[in-house]
Amino acid sequence: MKPDFTRLLDPRTEAMATSAIREILKVANRPGMTSLAGGIPAPETFPMDILEHVFSIVLDRWGSSAFQYDLTEGFVPLREAAVPYLRRYSVETPAEGILVSSGSQGLLDAIGKILIGPGDAVAVESPTYLGALQAFNPYGPRYVEIETDEMGAIPESLEKLIKEDKPKFVYLVPTFQNPSGRTLTIERRQTIAEIITRHGVLLVEDDPYAALRYRGDTVPAIKSMAPAHVLYATTFSKVFAPGLRVGLAVPPPGELGTWLVKAKQGTDLHTSTLSQAMAAAYLEGGYLEERLPLICAHYAPRLDAMLEAMEESFPSDWSWSRPEGGMFLWAEGPEGTDIPDLYEKALARNVAFVPGRYFYADPDRGGRTMRLNFTNADLDVLRKAVGTLGELIRNG
Ligand SMILES: Cc1ncc(COP(=O)(O)O)c(C=O)c1O
Repeated sequence: MKPDFTRLLDPRTEAMATSAIREILKVANRPGMTSLAGGIPAPETFPMDILEHVFSIVLDRWGSSAFQYDLTEGFVPLREAAVPYLRRYSVETPAEGILVSSGSQGLLDAIGKILIGPGDAVAVESPTYLGALQAFNPYGPRYVEIETDEMGAIPESLEKLIKEDKPKFVYLVPTFQNPSGRTLTIERRQTIAEIITRHGVLLVEDDPYAALRYRGDTVPAIKSMAPAHVLYATTFSKVFAPGLRVGLAVPPPGELGTWLVKAKQGTDLHTSTLSQAMAAAYLEGGYLEERLPLICAHYAPRLDAMLEAMEESFPSDWSWSRPEGGMFLWAEGPEGTDIPDLYEKALARNVAFVPGRYFYADPDRGGRTMRLNFTNADLDVLRKAVGTLGELIRNG
């Protein structure tokens, strides 16, 4: 008989159970399925045509050191090249102020590891990024949920939570949020910067999507308004390639960064040197800035097609976000909307989406919502899939 070593699992692994969402993504990837469920970039946006050239630059410039162990803080040429790049997000920092992470996800894990103890309050948007909940859950936090509207987190709700629940930190995705696609207005950013500064609270600003702006004006990062109170994170996953697993973090000045480095040392020693060298060469050579408009030009019509198709086919008692960038759109039905039923019927018609309730720290919320991804299907396929959803909502 095979031994069952799952009996050895620590009780904290119960908080890692995410099988429902994994099942959804597995089903969504079945052949023939139009998936509006995932959150992955379109492979057509990867710069396959110049990667050999970028790799040759890496070999010429750094040779074997691109394959060697390296600093936990990150490959120095990447941190140097990231200084001007981060200005795009209005984040001002010297190279030494930047830490490289194995994707933003690696940073979220390190944050959980060093900051969260059982029962600690952590303030998150309602809804929030599922992967952050997955990273934090094993450390046993008590989530307190910041109310949101179409302009993102509501500052008054945040301040109330800060006063009442004294969260260890606040976690926000202020720009083209995953899952809602919403963007915090500049006024709200300023108010939130003022609130966290007045209360001496740490904000984790997770910002993977800001560069994917298809229209409208750039909104500065909250980090630029309260640099001493914000741990800023962004990633190359959406603007270069997610398989590289390279993210950037700018912690507040002081010792917090040192602790993040200690936590990372125990996890992976450092992010892949080769991946970091590729990212460094990509940034230094100006390729990222050159390619970004092409990525945006690939996604913008998909967002428009999804919005138009929803306008045409969704009933008027549904509401949805109208983002100016990012990868997601969020839709909410009226009282009585049965999302599990819609989900099953949509699957039967080969259309997949993610029911919104998975993005809430409180599993009883979000029952009438869904997240739709528009980056990974062709225009006609997108229109047809949204039309199918509209038809199912109207006619059952
Ligand atoms: C809000 C947010 N944070 C972090 C991540 C993780 O990105 P990565 O680890 O690929 O950098 C994602 C990925 O979808 C995300 O949407």
